[in-house]
Amino acid sequence: MASKVTLIPGDGIGPEVTRATLRLLEAAGAQVEWEEVEAKSIVGLRQEDAHADPLVTSLLQNRVGLKGPLTTPVGVGHRSLNVALRKTLDLYANLRPVRNLPGVKTPFADVDLVIFRENTEDLYSGLEHVVLPGVVESLKIITAHASARIALFAFEYARAYGRKRVTAVHKANIMKLSDGLFLDSARRVHVAFPDIEYNEIIVDNCCMQLVMNPHRFDVLLLENLYGDIVSDLCAGLVGGLGLVPGANLGDRCAVFEAVHGSAPDIAGKNFANPTALMLSAVLMLRHLGQATVADHIEKAIYSAYRAGRWLTRDVGGKASTEEFTSAVIGALEAKVKG
Ligand code: NAI
Repeated sequence: MASKVTLIPGDGIGPEVTRATLRLLEAAGAQVEWEEVEAKSIVGLRQEDAHADPLVTSLLQNRVGLKGPLTTPVGVGHRSLNVALRKTLDLYANLRPVRNLPGVKTPFADVDLVIFRENTEDLYSGLEHVVLPGVVESLKIITAHASARIALFAFEYARAYGRKRVTAVHKANIMKLSDGLFLDSARRVHVAFPDIEYNEIIVDNCCMQLVMNPHRFDVLLLENLYGDIVSDLCAGLVGGLGLVPGANLGDRCAVFEAVHGSAPDIAGKNFANPTALMLSAVLMLRHLGQATVADHIEKAIYSAYRAGRWLTRDVGGKASTEEFTSAVIGALEAKVKG
């Protein structure tokens, strides 16, 4: 039976990469019935009103969503819809696997990292105000509850997927209370996972080590802000934002989306690389129990990269979004015939 999934095409390049991903999933025979919902503004709504929003209702009913990026104005205007959605649905764990794709030229081969970013608090709580003209205060909220549950998620994932080490990333030398609490929570959770190594690294040193020797890392555990920044850095290690998938996971539902934003600079030009959303859909299909079709799609994407004829501009090719998608579908069909 087909799984019903909420679909949010999003802004900018969102509709282009969503179209490409849907074409691929259909060609692969994924059993999905889409419920397309526009992302109306739930920003500023009280929790009880946000739950009446059609997007939130659909996600809570279907329990799974595939989402394109949503634009947030810089400095002015409405607060982030993405952040509001993650908070309203309590999608507390943001999973971002970062791996090289064959044929994409990068400084390092065999990068294979998994990022766990806390998704609901930290400086993203949106609590900021003008104290007096020229002085602004932004509140960083860290709780033992949210820190422990993201740590638990990371350790359980490490155990389930045969990962060896979890590294907590922090700045507790400066933010002794907030980042100190995050570390303390991770250490307590680690006690139940003696089979998984655990260590800690200061965020600035972590960035330097990542660009010099990414192989020393396995699973990274980060607060919201560090997780946001370090994930883009890690995307750069494997060829850019067009390649890295993600999942926002909570106890009530899961929303799968690429790491990248709406890329207004290339929107509407048929240049965008849909790989990140396609790989997010692979994570979604595994979550839905459709592992075989997910494996076929992933293999077809890797085949298209290995062949290297129809790659998009961000990874050194000349192909359009649609040409790349056709190449992946071609690889999928060739595998089925072979
Ligand atoms: P961005 O990720 O949209 O773009 C950064 C750079 O990467 C741009 O040069 C863009 O062309 C390139 N890029 C991104 N995705 C690509 C793809 N699939 N193929 C080829 N090139 C790609 O980040 P930016 O410009 O900082 O943000 C633009 C908007 O997106 C902002 O409003 C931001 O708030 C929003 N955003 C939304 C996210 C979400 O919905 N989850 C996540 C990140 C940003």
